[in-house]
Amino acid sequence: MIQKPYLVTFLICIFTLQGFNCQKTEKNQPTLPSLARGRVIYQTQCIACHNANPRQPGSLGPDVFGSTKDLLIARILKGEYPIGYQPKRKSHVMVALPHLQNEIDSIYLFLNTP
Ligand code: HEC
Repeated sequence: MIQKPYLVTFLICIFTLQGFNCQKTEKNQPTLPSLARGRVIYQTQCIACHNANPRQPGSLGPDVFGSTKDLLIARILKGEYPIGYQPKRKSHVMVALPHLQNEIDSIYLFLNTP
């Protein structure tokens, strides 16, 4: 038979741990940009058209390794190019992907880390 005080202490511990756990996994927390995050985003959102290896041309899109942050912001968020930039292709196949507005830094890291 478990003693009541032990049981109470045990339950308090469980609830306290649960509380910490909830705080850690709270939704909508801003995530820090990272190389790993950029890689996952690239692999899930870009390689339908670009090559899995961003240094190579893909099925539809050109190689994108080394893209500047200005280019990524203009191309991904607005579907445009920075002023004076000479695009690698003259086509207009790629639509803007504005839902990635918080991920530009991660994508930039992935496309600029040797
Ligand atoms: C629907 C296919 C498609 C998807 C998805 C796509 N792209 Fe593109 N992308 C293209 C094509 C095609 C071009 C060439 C210009 C055009 O036709 O729009 C391009 C051009 C670009 C350029 C400009 C290259 C240059 O220097 O001229 C960048 C940078 C780029 N894409 C990055 C990305 C990233 C990063 C993602 C994922 C977040 C992505 N694209 C998703 C098809 C796509």
